[in-house]
Amino acid sequence: SKNGFDHFMMKEIYDQPSAIHETLARRLDSNKMIQLDDIKLSKQEFEQIQKVYIVACGTAYHAGLVGKYAIEKLAHVPVTVDIASEFRYSDPFIDGNTLLIAVSQSGETADTLAAVREAKRKGARVLAITNVVGSSVARESHDVFYTWAGPEIAVASTKAYTAQLIAFYMLALHFARIKDTIAYNDYREKVEQIEKLTPAVEEILSRKETVKEIAQTLLEAKSAFYLGRGLDYMSAMEAALKLKEISYMHTEAFAAGELKHGTIALIEEGIPVLAIVTQDRLAEKMISNMKEVKARGAYVIAIAKEGIEHIHEVADKVIELPKAPDLFMPILSVVPSQLLAYYVSTLKNNDVDKPRNLAKSVTVE
Ligand code: M6R
Repeated sequence: SKNGFDHFMMKEIYDQPSAIHETLARRLDSNKMIQLDDIKLSKQEFEQIQKVYIVACGTAYHAGLVGKYAIEKLAHVPVTVDIASEFRYSDPFIDGNTLLIAVSQSGETADTLAAVREAKRKGARVLAITNVVGSSVARESHDVFYTWAGPEIAVASTKAYTAQLIAFYMLALHFARIKDTIAYNDYREKVEQIEKLTPAVEEILSRKETVKEIAQTLLEAKSAFYLGRGLDYMSAMEAALKLKEISYMHTEAFAAGELKHGTIALIEEGIPVLAIVTQDRLAEKMISNMKEVKARGAYVIAIAKEGIEHIHEVADKVIELPKAPDLFMPILSVVPSQLLAYYVSTLKNNDVDKPRNLAKSVTVE
């Protein structure tokens, strides 16, 4: 049921604090150490892994991009992320020392399942991150990490994505502990930081009216851009997909530094540019990119971590996010982008839960 909400999507956006909590808490023992009982990879097997492939479609692919960053940073293993429909026909260079992580909310996406089969044929170890117990991807993989997000009904994925990010953070920490690439105190601290994301998401939800007001200013726009750097670029891709699939507004995500290599030609008077600014060491660069588009007439909306210097001077509107460590900010920055997509869609009277031309799970090629 919609639990009193008008649409499944809004209900599922609101399910996120508990989806995050469940995905994490169910795997913490009494000492707050991560226990992944469904993952049978032994320490010895893990040590043999020389590279990781993450394969998925759509929103799950965007979660994989953040996953790459977390695994490389914490566990020091090289990771390649690929779109499942590309991977399966690319004759990927994988062998017995490869771990393939297949990410799929439904566990029934045809291309992701085909990628699992292809990787197994080549001798890789396959781990699934999925939300559906007993789904095809779960059954055919060697190991499974279930995201405990609960059923996701709306076509636009929301809580499955945040739960997938939590899954990746936990996997990365777990791998790092096995490989001894993280100090014990740092590990403990990161687990605590992840726990604190639940109240932070609640705080963002409590300020949803601000996002609705901004949505009202976007209804006439023909197209929009999301910009970000580093992890914020990954979040920009997910934000753009969300906005386009339910509002039908043409939206593109760009790595902010790439703008002046072509795309800035599209910036004209009044065009909405949404800038995601949560990464401390990249904030200053983002501010200058925002100034560049602003100077060409863009209507600049920032989704920014609290306390970013000069943000209120360069942005026309600012949606502020509570502070968390940079690595975990994608969990927070996605929430306003989901709300924004939801409001633009519903204010346009679109069928937000069942957008045109789309199916919840794509079981054909
Ligand atoms: O069930 P899956 O996670 O395998 O689905 C993958 C994509 O089809 C899905 O994320 C799609 O991109 C969503 N509609 C995005 O909101």
